[in-house]
Amino acid sequence: MPRNVVTGGEQHRLFLALWPDQETRARLAAAARRWTRRPVPGDNLHMTLLFIGACDIDKWRCIDNAVSMVVSQPFEIDIDYLGSWPRKRMQWLGTSRAPEALGELVEALRLALICCDFQPGRQRFVPHVTLSRKQQHPQTRAGLDIIHWPVDEFVLAESLSVEGGVRYVVRKRWPLSGAE
Ligand code: 2AM
Repeated sequence: MPRNVVTGGEQHRLFLALWPDQETRARLAAAARRWTRRPVPGDNLHMTLLFIGACDIDKWRCIDNAVSMVVSQPFEIDIDYLGSWPRKRMQWLGTSRAPEALGELVEALRLALICCDFQPGRQRFVPHVTLSRKQQHPQTRAGLDIIHWPVDEFVLAESLSVEGGVRYVVRKRWPLSGAE
């Protein structure tokens, strides 16, 4: 049962994500400050695994149960790539060598959510940490120091609208402890 939830027909904008540990977050935030003019707040840095969108409490409960069944080994992501999507005016950090376990985790989560009436988008999963939005950026990757990101959990997060932007709140964490 999700915690801190108001019951009723209220909708919650949810997504599954990797949430950086403090040290990794500090490194990502430093890269954001170095490479962008208007970085997203450091506390918001994350990697979305699966964007779910608006959910009522019943769907939330279903998602909670379904993803609890997902099993994955811990893994590490080498963030080594500065990318941009000019049309979306977004700049992000990514990896040129995504671990197989990351793709497998995303696939397992997509499959798990089928029973919750989740329609996955057709877009290919591009692992990325958004650094800034709504700005034009030069495409460069010069001097990007690799950030080793140890991943041993995934989270369900909620996106809340706040004055001046959004704030993300982690609602639940699941450890990646591998198969028994
Ligand atoms: P982005 O960083 O690439 O914009 C919370 O909003 C998270 O969900 C963000 O990381 C965002 O990814 C992602 N997200 C928001 N809306 C989305 C959508 N319609 N499809 C896929 N991902 C989305």
